[in-house]
Amino acid sequence: MTLNEIALHRRSIRKYNGQPVSREELEALVRFAQEAPSWKNQQTSRYHIVCSADVISKARACLGGSNPQKTEGVSALIVTSFKHDIVGHTHGQPDNEGGNGWGWYDLGLQNAYLLLKAAELDIDTLVIGIRNAEELRSLLQIPEDETIGAVIAVGHRVENAQRPPRKEFDEIVSVY
Ligand SMILES: Cc1cc2nc3c(=O)[nH]c(=O)nc-3n(C[C@H](O)[C@H](O)[C@H](O)COP(=O)(O)O)c2cc1C
Repeated sequence: MTLNEIALHRRSIRKYNGQPVSREELEALVRFAQEAPSWKNQQTSRYHIVCSADVISKARACLGGSNPQKTEGVSALIVTSFKHDIVGHTHGQPDNEGGNGWGWYDLGLQNAYLLLKAAELDIDTLVIGIRNAEELRSLLQIPEDETIGAVIAVGHRVENAQRPPRKEFDEIVSVY
């Protein structure tokens, strides 16, 4: 698949068929995500990979809204986070007004790489922002110096999903 085909093949999938994703494949996703750029190469993103059935079911209970139902049949849940007060800081001081915001930026970049690698390997994903971070922290013993970001559901789709429309190019671009 070309990069364009990979980007179009990737969709947010909300119904999974229970087919496994191997440890090697999960490792390949994170290794590829590590190739993303990061603020001063600080690499503060972290990945807490939940792949045992028992812990997946406990982690699904920490998801909000209808996300527990949407993640039935997933093979793994990846809780993503970043080390705060390090990223965007030098000697304890924020480098600019972005501060810890650069941690969110870097994590999002890395996660985008992870999603694209998954699509290339024909593995499906759902980025989940509606989740209870503190319940996940307590379940997985995630250290307090990490800000918890999105949870990424990983598995195989039951059926293809529609591509939600994108805004018009001119609405999002200004050329000077
Ligand atoms: C930061 C972020 C948080 C999201 N949170 C959720 C969520 O909690 N539940 C959900 O079903 N989809 C969630 N999504 C998926 C978006 O709804 C989806 O990406 C968007 O509708 C575009 O569809 P597509 O991913 O198929 O292109 C989230 C996406 C992002 C980037």
